[in-house]
Amino acid sequence: MRVLLTGVTGYIGSHAAVEVLAAGHDVVGIDDLSASIIDTRHAIERTAGRKIEFHELDLRDAKGVECILAHADVDAILHFAGRKFVGESVADPIRYYSRNVTASVNLLAAAERHGINNIVFSSSCTVYGDAAELPVTEHSPISPVSPYGKTKAVVEGLLEDLCHAQEATRALALRYFNPIGAHPSGLIGEIPWGTPNNLVPYVMQVASGQRAVLSVFGDDYDTPDGTCIRDYVHVVDIAKAHVLALDAVGRNQFGNRDGFGALNLGTGQGHSVLEVLDACRAATRRPIPHHVVARRPGDAAVIYADPSRAANELGWRAQHDLVTMCADHWNFTRNNAERQASAS
Ligand code: UFG
Repeated sequence: MRVLLTGVTGYIGSHAAVEVLAAGHDVVGIDDLSASIIDTRHAIERTAGRKIEFHELDLRDAKGVECILAHADVDAILHFAGRKFVGESVADPIRYYSRNVTASVNLLAAAERHGINNIVFSSSCTVYGDAAELPVTEHSPISPVSPYGKTKAVVEGLLEDLCHAQEATRALALRYFNPIGAHPSGLIGEIPWGTPNNLVPYVMQVASGQRAVLSVFGDDYDTPDGTCIRDYVHVVDIAKAHVLALDAVGRNQFGNRDGFGALNLGTGQGHSVLEVLDACRAATRRPIPHHVVARRPGDAAVIYADPSRAANELGWRAQHDLVTMCADHWNFTRNNAERQASAS
C-alpha cells in the first residue's frame, strides 16, 4: 500500500512511519513542522533504511491538501496531526478547534473527493473524560472534559457520519492511553517543544540535569500511594497497532455495519506517578529529585484501558513493561540532547 501519514515527524507519527515502512508499504508524509523538526524525517529514513515522500504543509491550507491528495495516489490515511495538550486547549480553544477539527475536515473532504476510503485516526482516552467505570471499554460513555478531548470526539463523530454516508468509507479511531518510550534504536523519540507538559518527558529532563526537580501534582488522591494512575504504553506498541489497523480497515474486518470502529490502545495496567518515577530511577540510575505540589486542575484520579477489543479485532497486545518503556525513553533523551535543544 501507499499510505499518507499526517503529523509524520511528530512523536507517534514518526514511530508509525518506521513500522509502516517495515511492513513494506510506501509512506507519503505531511507535517507543518510547528511542533516537530525536519531532522526527524531523516531519522525515520535511517531507522527504516528507506526513503519517504515528504510535504511541509499545514492541513488548514485546504488548497495545499487538495493538491497533495490529488497527486499522491494513496490507498489509506493515518491521521496523526494535531495539538495534544489539555491545559493549552483550555487556554486557547480556537487553536484546538482550528488545528484539530478544521484541519481534519480539510483532509477528509479531499480524501472523499479522491476516493481514499480507508482512514485510521489518532484519538485519545481523553474522549472518556472522568471515567465512571474501570477499566474503560469502548462502550464507556464519551464525555470529554477539555477542548482537546472534545476536538477528538468531534473528529470521531465526523468519521462515523462519513462511514454512514459513504458505503466505501471505513474508519478506525485508535484511542491511545499514555504513550511513552522511544524506538530502541535511539534514533527517534519524543522531542518536547519547550517545557514538557507530560510526566515522562519532564522526568527525563530532570534525569539529564536540564531541570532541577519534578513536581508531582497531588498525593492526596484516592489511590494506594495518593498519586494519579494512568495506563502507560510503549510508543512502538502503539505504532505497530497502526499497521494492523491498516490491514483491518482494508478488509473491513471490524467496526459497526457502516464501517466505523474505535479501539482502546493500552496495556490494561495502571501505574501511579510514584511508580513511574521509581521505574525511571531504575532505568536511568539517576536520583531524580521530586516534590509534591497541588493537584493539576482537570486530572482524573485513575484511568486505564480494557484493551481486549484491540486484541480480539486486531490481534494487538502491548508487549513492553514499564521499566523497558522508561529505559527506551531515556536512551533517546540521552542520545539526542542536540536535537532537543533545537526544539526548546
Ligand atoms: N504529572 C505530574 N507532574 C508533571 C506532569 C504530570 O505529576 O510534571 C502527573 C499528572 O498529574 C498525571 C500523570 O502525571 O497524574 C500523567 O500526566 P501526563 O500529563 O503525562 O498525562 P495525562 O494523563 O494528563 O495526559 C495524557 C496525554 C493527553 C491525553 C490524556 C488522556 O498527554 O494527550 O493523557 O487522559 F489526552
